[in-house]
Amino acid sequence: MRKLYVKTYGCQMNVYDSARMAELLAPIGYGPAEQPEDADMVILNTCHIREKAAEKVYSELGRLKKIKDERPLTIAVAGCVAQAEGAEIVARAPQVDIVVGPQSYHRLPEMIAKIAREGGHALETDFPALEKFDALPKDMSPAGVTAFLTVQEGCDKFCTFCVVPYTRGAEYSRPVLQIEDEARRLVARGVRELTLLGQNVNAYRGEGPDGEAWSLARLSDRLARIDGLVRLRYTTSHPRDMGDDLIAAHGDNVALMPYLHLPVQSGSDAILQAMNRQHRAEDYLRLVERIRAARPDIALTSDFIVGFPGESDKDFEATLDLVRAVRYAGAFSFKYSARPGTPAAAVRKHVPEDVKDARLQALNALLLEQQDAFKQACAGLTMDVLFEKPGRRAGQAVGRSPYLQSVHVDDAAHLIGQMARVKIESVYPNSLKGSLLRERALTH
Ligand code: SAH
Ligand code: SF4
Ligand code: F3S
Repeated sequence: MRKLYVKTYGCQMNVYDSARMAELLAPIGYGPAEQPEDADMVILNTCHIREKAAEKVYSELGRLKKIKDERPLTIAVAGCVAQAEGAEIVARAPQVDIVVGPQSYHRLPEMIAKIAREGGHALETDFPALEKFDALPKDMSPAGVTAFLTVQEGCDKFCTFCVVPYTRGAEYSRPVLQIEDEARRLVARGVRELTLLGQNVNAYRGEGPDGEAWSLARLSDRLARIDGLVRLRYTTSHPRDMGDDLIAAHGDNVALMPYLHLPVQSGSDAILQAMNRQHRAEDYLRLVERIRAARPDIALTSDFIVGFPGESDKDFEATLDLVRAVRYAGAFSFKYSARPGTPAAAVRKHVPEDVKDARLQALNALLLEQQDAFKQACAGLTMDVLFEKPGRRAGQAVGRSPYLQSVHVDDAAHLIGQMARVKIESVYPNSLKGSLLRERALTH
């Protein structure tokens, strides 16, 4: 048996794709390797979103070259760097055998056969999205209690800073029945919580069994009926695509978790416009109000970019104001990184690095304060915990709260794979500790 090591960078869609690539290669004799040193083939599933993410790939390729100098090793670069840079990768790193984009990785087995037969390199960066999902194996690797399921790919929004519309292509939604089939197979393998994935997941418009285009709310409603599936999440959403029915679903669909990642990027209207986000700060705040009216206990998270070209002190202050108004449960903030080929990168007036650093620090301090306040407010609450794995202590189990926090509970090992009511007793930096409220599990 040959051994495969897949290293994943970037977003959850890449995590999903990496699992699918491993499944594709299992029938041609590849089992998992613990580390690259033990592997016959290494796939780097890459991310192009910021310069640092893309550069990491080349340093990893340098390390792999040392292994390959000593013995045979097949090296594949997949994901968004593969899509964005294509043949340049082989020019810069000739040790790479295969370059395969995110929409064509179902062709990996043929590509491996081709280089075995003919030697040289193999490159595929087409966009046959439809074909990919049809070609993926139905026999999925053993799953845990939670799983990702890609329902939508690509993006038509073209935010001026972002590479995703170029690396992942146009928006495409998988048909409802194809998704339901995959969900049922995952549930049959023990999955109790699904996170529906898409670069712009709330723009989902997949073909329903009635031939109509279904929304994410309708899809979620259908999936929530699957016996054994107790929780649904989705990510990442765009504020512009937060439809009335999806907002209402947060009140009506009991499987839908009260946790929403809704990136706003900036609180300044001028910057939002320059980013082509297609909404104002005020629109976002109204949207948050409507979502909270439907589901008062919802936790909101966001992404922010500081130092977008032209961002003034006043613009940045507006971002801090928006954060104060929303009160987030958590967020990611990034310094703007100019990406080749995107409109914002062509602008001359870039924000100096030290200003970006100072803004990032100020924003993070405020976000951390809010994150901490959210966490502290969980003490004393009773919440459902879905148990995923054994804890460090005997009999202990670790699960997730509705808000994605890790919760440690003693004497709960027998509840792994099930959900139970837990009273939160203490709050730690990266987790919560609680005790079972009653022995009876909520689900089986
Ligand atoms: N589809 C999601 C974002 C995917 S990228 C959305 O619309 O929000 C994840 C995050 O990376 C973005 O939300 C943004 O905050 C950040 N990001 C994207 N391009 C960036 C760039 N050029 N520089 C810095 N951060 C960037
Ligand atoms: Fe990128 Fe904007 Fe699309 Fe999100 S919505 S993936 S930030 S272009
Ligand atoms: Fe990165 Fe591609 Fe995801 S650029 S964030 S891996 S869609």
